[in-house]
Amino acid sequence: MASVLTFVLIGLMLTAPAVAADKVELSVDVSKAGAKIDRNIFGQFAEHLGHGVYEGVWVGPNSPIPNTRGIRTDVVAALKALRVPNVRWPGGCFADEYHWRKGIGPTGQRAATLNPNWGGVIEPNTFGIHELMDFLDQIGSEAYLSVNVGSGTPQEAAEWLEYMTTAQPTALAKERAANGHPAPYKVAYLGIGNESWDCGGNMTADYYLSQLKIYSRFVRNFNPAQQDKQQMLKIAVGPGGGEARWTEWTEVIMKAWQNRQWSWDMQGLSLHSYTVVRWPPAYASVGFGEAEYSEILKQTLTMEDLATKHSAIMDKYDPEKKIALVVDEWGAWYTPLPGSNPGFLVQQNSLRDAILAALNLNIFARHADRVRMANIAQMVNVLQAMIMTDKEKMVLTPTYHVFKMYLPFQDATFVPVAFDAGAYTRGNITLPRVDAIAAKDTAGKLWLAITNLDPNQPVEIETNLVGVTGKTAAGETLTAPKVDSVNTFEAPSMVAPKPISAEIQGGKLALKLEPKSVTVVSVD
Ligand code: AHR
Repeated sequence: MASVLTFVLIGLMLTAPAVAADKVELSVDVSKAGAKIDRNIFGQFAEHLGHGVYEGVWVGPNSPIPNTRGIRTDVVAALKALRVPNVRWPGGCFADEYHWRKGIGPTGQRAATLNPNWGGVIEPNTFGIHELMDFLDQIGSEAYLSVNVGSGTPQEAAEWLEYMTTAQPTALAKERAANGHPAPYKVAYLGIGNESWDCGGNMTADYYLSQLKIYSRFVRNFNPAQQDKQQMLKIAVGPGGGEARWTEWTEVIMKAWQNRQWSWDMQGLSLHSYTVVRWPPAYASVGFGEAEYSEILKQTLTMEDLATKHSAIMDKYDPEKKIALVVDEWGAWYTPLPGSNPGFLVQQNSLRDAILAALNLNIFARHADRVRMANIAQMVNVLQAMIMTDKEKMVLTPTYHVFKMYLPFQDATFVPVAFDAGAYTRGNITLPRVDAIAAKDTAGKLWLAITNLDPNQPVEIETNLVGVTGKTAAGETLTAPKVDSVNTFEAPSMVAPKPISAEIQGGKLALKLEPKSVTVVSVD
């Protein structure tokens, strides 16, 4: 009798849907197109920190790990597929202690130095500016250099840029040629300092402002190809949060910029914001449940308030939105994985991080008129990484998959989406149940990215497509059995995108979204 009952129950579980899905109406009107979603919001950050550069990117030409001139080929292939628009380097806090000259010349003769910020380990300087530019060339990306304001000098930074960019036969250009690169390099973006209010020298806004003016004036890009259209964009240190001291920082820099004289300028103001809840980081990257899932997502959504708050201040002094808000450090920061060097910021990357990434990318897209660049921290093996490596092994993280699924949004035109999906509540945390963006790509095709934040309930979306003639929608959806599901070297596809498609009938697209999922579809 008991076994018959068990059989009937199992049969019921297999045939009946676990939970009835609610319908959510979503409207997209392509005639209301907004700003361009700058592809630079998909930028990466590679600091000399732990195994981010050494082992993660650089293994050296004599390594048994397949490489091209010392740069690992598996990582290059994975990043190339992401069409990474720019890479911020060499830090981070490291940048304000980095002296570029130590990283040029024959590798065997480069002086070893220290990396006091990150574990106090030896910095071999084998990965210097020539290796960075080779790496960027291999993945097809642009350089975003952070120059040393904290412990360097304007002269040191100015010489670095002359070394890299002049086409004239100066002593520095000849040295560059002797080191293997006669042609000037392109430096697309220049960060003037990093977190100068903290690890970059604990400066006041006024003190930093005077440094900014000097560096902006003297650190010149001489590349003949960058004097007109492709001019190097200079990015000033901006706020690190939303509290009064940060709004004041934004005020000071932006007000000064509005009243600037001809001799200095900037084109971007940085914003750093990690999803951490509290310092020091207290949340684990593995082995967590729904409570931690919802707490972390609640905090990540505060990026919306930060973007709104700082954009409003910038609007006062720059109504034409000439200055970009550059979110050049963002992502989740958890406790270090047990057994790892705490200075190396090693953490796992779960389905929760994929959802977190999608939510932030959606916020940047909604602020596309002002947020025109962003850099997730960090590219390989550090914090919310795209890729994790262990000697010859490599695994793509759930966050990597979101960046790949969002490729069509690079340089696409934002299209507003209207919906009311209600809320998902867990304990005292309430989150929107659904988040969505839409955009038209450069070929005019409509793309939708929809995240179902609810970890338990599927969502049925009915999209009303105004001004769209397509008949089908197809794309990918990313979910996994649990909110803390991760990819490992042994099980690399636990969190991997799967195809999804649907018919469009009567101008309406019906999609059923799995709980805790990110879905990207195009309308054809
Ligand atoms: O990304 C790690 C560190 O976080 C960076 O070096 C610093 O800028 C920030 O505080």
